[in-house]
Amino acid sequence: MREVKIESNLEVYENYDSFSKEELTLFQSAKDASKRAYAPYSKFYVGAALLLSDGQIVSGNNQENAVYPCGLCAERVAIFHASSMHPELTYQSIAITIDYDRIDLDDIAFPCGSCRQVLFEYESKQENKLKIYLLGKNESVIILNSVDQLLPFGFSNKLLS
Ligand code: THU
Repeated sequence: MREVKIESNLEVYENYDSFSKEELTLFQSAKDASKRAYAPYSKFYVGAALLLSDGQIVSGNNQENAVYPCGLCAERVAIFHASSMHPELTYQSIAITIDYDRIDLDDIAFPCGSCRQVLFEYESKQENKLKIYLLGKNESVIILNSVDQLLPFGFSNKLLS
């Protein structure tokens, strides 16, 4: 028997001091998107913003439904939106936040398993890694430099022939 240990690397920041103007714009887009979330059932408002290879930002937020499983998370709404509009572009980074003005939480929300798998697919089909910014309360940020750090054993489309 051989034991294999998998580790994840997270960068943890307390404030926005070391972030560029471009990164702050991306953060603001995710926050703005969380304000437009349609989450009347959970009241858990999530926003995500992707930076595309041509410099544009595409955002999304969670969309719920009275038939609960029909709803979709912010991360998938954002990345499906981006891919449906610009399949030729690649993704540099994604910022994800909850609306801390309406959700009384101190924790950072990590993406759910299904969103991790979807992010994994889009990262696999491009050359560069997708950087992930998880925005916390006030100015806290966690950075993961690749989807591998979120989902070490993702299902690879290489298995499908
Ligand atoms: N949600 C997201 O938008 N992203 C996640 O990664 C986790 C959960 C949404 C789905 C649902 O609308 C609400 O948050 C509560 O689960």
